[in-house]
Order: sequence, then C-alpha cells, then structure tokens
Amino acid sequence: MTQKLLRPLAIGGVNLKNNLALAPMAGITNAAFRILAAEGGAGLVVTEMVSAESIKYGNKKSFRMLELLPGEHPAAIQVFGADPASMALAAQAAERAGADIVDINAGCPVKKVLRSGAGAALMKTPQLLADIIASMVKSVKIPVTVKFRIGLSPAENLGPLLARVCEEAGASAITLHGRFAAQVHSGPVNLAAMAETAAAVKIPVFGNGGVAGADSARAMLEAGCAGIGIGRAAVFNPAIFAEISAGLSGGSAVAVAPAARIVLFLRFLELNAGIYGEEHGMARARKLVGYWLKGLPNASGARGAFMKLKTLKEAEALLIQYTK
Ligand SMILES: Cc1cc2nc3c(=O)[nH]c(=O)nc-3n(C[C@H](O)[C@H](O)[C@H](O)COP(=O)(O)O)c2cc1C
Repeated sequence: MTQKLLRPLAIGGVNLKNNLALAPMAGITNAAFRILAAEGGAGLVVTEMVSAESIKYGNKKSFRMLELLPGEHPAAIQVFGADPASMALAAQAAERAGADIVDINAGCPVKKVLRSGAGAALMKTPQLLADIIASMVKSVKIPVTVKFRIGLSPAENLGPLLARVCEEAGASAITLHGRFAAQVHSGPVNLAAMAETAAAVKIPVFGNGGVAGADSARAMLEAGCAGIGIGRAAVFNPAIFAEISAGLSGGSAVAVAPAARIVLFLRFLELNAGIYGEEHGMARARKLVGYWLKGLPNASGARGAFMKLKTLKEAEALLIQYTK
C-alpha cells in the first residue's frame, strides 16, 4: 500500500482534511446534523437532495434546504433532476448559497424520482447524465461531483462505464454506492465492482454502502476507493468519523459512550432550534429521537415522552438521566 488509507484529499480545488464524507440523507443531513458530523471528524458533509425543478420555480422550502451554516464547510449541496438547464440553474443557486461542491444525485431508487428521469434513472441514460454534468460544469466555478450506484439490477456493473462518462464530462469526483438500485439500502456491497470502478478513472471515487467502522472502511479503501461516504452509521453517531479515523490510523477506535451520544443529541436539538425555531425544531427531531436513544434503558418510554415535548428545557429534563 503506497498511500495512507486515511488522508487529506482534494476535490477539484477544494481541500478536504480527510477522505471520510457524510453521505447525503433526505430527512437527516440537515444543517444541524451536518455541523455535528463536521465536528465529529467528517472531511466533507453533504446536504439532503434538493430538487432542481423546485429551485427553478422558486420553491421556498427547497431554497431553505440550500442554506449552509459557517461551521459545516467544506460542504456539498446535492441536487436532483433530469433537465440539464434546470440542473445548471440549481448548481448556480448552490454556488450562490456558498456550497464548496455541487453533487448530482444519480442513484436515488425512489419511484417518484425515477419516473421523472432523475436519480438512478440517469444511470440508464449516460448521454443525458453527461449533458447534465457538462451543463453544470459550464455554469459554476465550484467542482461538480456525481453519486451513483454500481448498477440498476443484480449482475450488472455499470460502474466503470458511468465513472468514465462522469470524468469525461468534467466531474471532479464520484461517490459510488456499492449496491444495485434494486437493493435500495440493504444487502452486501459489491467490492469487486467498486474496485473496477475506482480503477477506471483518475478522479477520486468515494466508496459507500454499509460502512459501520474502521474495518469496513479499510476494505473499501484497500479496494482502491480514494475515500468513504458514511450514511446510516452516522445517523445516531456523528462522531463515527473520528472513530474510523482513529481505527484507520492504527489507534483503537473507541466507540462514543451513550452519555456522550445524548449530549450530542441535545446539541442537535439546540442547533435545530436555531435554524427552525424551538417548537418546529423539536417537532422535526421526533422522527430521529428513536435512533439516538437506541439501546438505552427504557428507550421506548423516553421516545414516547419526547413526542409531546415542545421546548429544549423539557428535552433536557427528560434526557439528562442518560448523560451521567
Ligand atoms: C433515510 C435515507 C435518505 C437518503 N437520502 C439520500 C439522498 O438524499 N441522496 C442520496 O444520494 N442518497 C441518499 N441516501 C443514500 C445514502 O446516501 C447512502 O448511499 C446509503 O444509505 C448507503 O450508505 P450507508 O450504508 O452508509 O447508509 C439515503 C439513505 C437513507 C437511509
């Protein structure tokens, strides 16, 4: 191995302190969560996917999703769509919002997205994907990156072909989810297909899918990925980036204690309140509280009680028992 597995990385002209990125997750990677991930050691954070068509038509909710906070850079804004002109407009909006990178979603398997020709449907239309990339690259100064999967259905590896299409069209990096679209988010990743994809291009390929600790990260990096994207394992543990960094550097990867995790959740609530207002911020945390409390004594009782809370003070009073 000539290169260190954990290392700083440049995407276009954007320098990342390390090669561990937070993967985009709709409903989860909002600004509050991205700050926790950046503080937890992520070298790059990525927003939830934002609709290019909604940006084009001035949808307020979508514009709010473009808002970045000072503590989260370098940050990528991810956009989805199937029209090169709309995607170029969305890229410009992302650049104006202060994004360091704009990422294209070419891997989402949700039916509504597929029907519009966006997300993983772009894997079936490489020429359209290339046109989208080229039109975005022409419209902004920030690097354009692409996230896609190894294929749509089992036994196909579209990775190398699509990676070359992305590189030739001007993309600066790729995130490769090592599963087929038909697998959605479960099942094994195909490391061999990932290795072939990483070897097919010069631009960095971030491996993604099922990374839950230093061992699974190491396997993808040793397969030739330049970096790693971490999704669900970060959801209730945004300090996982530091844990994996320690593990990859030969140290012991000490898991964050439950008490520290709840302290992080309280900080998340505070950040959420700063963004959306206290009551709305608390309401938005309801669908996530279960993840954070997982494995703790009387977690389901505490989760039920949390659903009725409206203030940070009430949340602190409920959760303080877990922070000691
Ligand atoms: C709740 C949820 C929302 C997601 N939203 C997005 C998204 O907006 N854009 C995207 O490219 N991928 C999205 N993904 C896929 C993740 O980025 C990632 O590829 C997938 O979860 C596999 O990585 P993991 O095993 O580390 O979670 C989502 C995944 C989940 C579980």
